Amino acid sequence: MTAKIIDGKAIAAQVRQRAKERAFELFEKTGKKVRLAVVMVGDNPASEIYVRNKIKACEEAGIESQSFRLPSDTSEEKIIELVDRLDSDKFTHGILVQLPLPKGIDERKVLERISPQKDVDGFHAVNAGNLMLGNKCLTACTPQGCIELIRSTGAQIEGKNAVVVGRSNIVGKPMAMLLLQNNATVTIAHSKTENLASITSRADILVAAVGKKEFITGAMIKPGAIVIDVGMNRCDGKLYGDVKFDEAERVASFITPVPGGVGPMTIAMLLKNTVTAAENA
Ligand code: GUN
Repeated sequence: MTAKIIDGKAIAAQVRQRAKERAFELFEKTGKKVRLAVVMVGDNPASEIYVRNKIKACEEAGIESQSFRLPSDTSEEKIIELVDRLDSDKFTHGILVQLPLPKGIDERKVLERISPQKDVDGFHAVNAGNLMLGNKCLTACTPQGCIELIRSTGAQIEGKNAVVVGRSNIVGKPMAMLLLQNNATVTIAHSKTENLASITSRADILVAAVGKKEFITGAMIKPGAIVIDVGMNRCDGKLYGDVKFDEAERVASFITPVPGGVGPMTIAMLLKNTVTAAENA
């Protein structure tokens, strides 16, 4: 079997187009211009690329973006001061604080200062909690994007065995919640999981979000599985997923490439969340 490639770029383009239309409709109806504030602290090279791409995507969707770059030695108080100012600005509908923040800064403390209605990353405890309860809320972008990619295959999620490898707050945990909402039978595996291959090889839907280059090999994948690779591991100037693509491609029915799979969907969902935040404001 050779897996079909899930074209994240093409699917993201559709989501971005829809966000653009909604932003325009909102402006026509209310005069509101959708605006996102992006805060970046320090000069993490990967974050630089992500932030640049997010701002460019906003421009293309007719969403105003304001970028705030703070030096790496900025105090927690100063970061919070900026977040508070943006949070009380009625023209700012979404606030994104790019992670990771420099060592010594309490990320949770900063993220909790964003009001849940402006938390377009879906990282606030209230949004994370509402996701768990199945309430309508702003939901983490990458997992939302992964669900869209899985849906694009036409396969049913309900009743399927889904395995998420990785338990981060920004991908693994919300991913598991969304799969559960879609009535999958969900297992979360992680770095301490014993006998990982015996678990992944039962997955009809496998989401790899471990952050380890080519960690999931072909032998760990169930024949015919849908494989979603969230990994973005930079090595010698090249980008690698968490899945050994050449092997996985011969076993899976559908697979996302890296780059061009999940990455573009994260940005598309950010635009979608930002427009939703503006509509709700
Ligand atoms: N760092 C890595 N991914 C993300 C993301 O989706 N949002 C933010 N704010 N930071 C990140």
